[in-house]
Amino acid sequence: MRLRRSVALSAAEYFRANAEEWDSVRSLHVQESDVENALLECFPDHLEDLLDIGTGTGRMLQLFADRVDRGVGLDTSRDMLAVARANLETMGIRHCHVQLGDMYRLSLEDKAVDGVIVHQVLHYSENPARVISEAGRVLRPDGVLVIADFSPHNLEALREDHAHLRLGFDDAEIGDWFAKAGLVAGPIKKLEGDPLTVTIWSAMRPPFIISTMSIRQESRQSNHVQCTRNCFDRITISRRRTS
Ligand SMILES: C[S@@+](CC[C@H](N)C(=O)[O-])C[C@H]1O[C@@H](n2cnc3c(N)ncnc32)[C@H](O)[C@@H]1O
Repeated sequence: MRLRRSVALSAAEYFRANAEEWDSVRSLHVQESDVENALLECFPDHLEDLLDIGTGTGRMLQLFADRVDRGVGLDTSRDMLAVARANLETMGIRHCHVQLGDMYRLSLEDKAVDGVIVHQVLHYSENPARVISEAGRVLRPDGVLVIADFSPHNLEALREDHAHLRLGFDDAEIGDWFAKAGLVAGPIKKLEGDPLTVTIWSAMRPPFIISTMSIRQESRQSNHVQCTRNCFDRITISRRRTS
């Protein structure tokens, strides 16, 4: 009991120290609530399994708690995980948990989840393509990946003072990494702030029927395969008749 309390206290101190820095970054972009509302719109109303990569204090798990059957948050920081656990416990969220995990080597099986979120984490990565590839690997067919990060900017202070390794991402490079991970890109949302713009990119793991073999088989019956997803209008794969 005493140990638990001391872990909670040191984690709280760690969070207090970092929370101040994060608040200074937050003041550079649009309201967090606007970003969160936009994120909510990117996923279907119900998910079986949500993976939150770089969960930090577990905020994304809290946000999506009433939409998911199960949620798991991964982070490399034991201190952040302690804060996230305490937050989930305080809020009575028992169907979501957090655990130690590295975004470059996710400890999940292939096709384990139907939703992945990477909120304000990718700019800490020296290998974002690898993170997206791992996220794609654990997505089920029809599963949705959502990444929220900054558009390209030139605030060097974020590199120096806040350990950012990347000063934002452009849409083309994220789209390229989606494609290499076998994902279909969805709409892009921009929440313009001064000086930072938050961008939300979404992608979907195509359902099996879109794989090359099946497309050929299905193509005798109709001209289009349509995949509907909340945040994606309708992704229409046009095909030629084979007969
Ligand atoms: C800005 S914070 C948390 C943001 C969090 N997603 C949210 O919405 O509040 C970024 C987090 O990424 C975590 N992180 C950094 N490198 C990581 C890695 N290789 N694998 C998993 N998490 C990592 C950090 O420990 C930190 O908690």
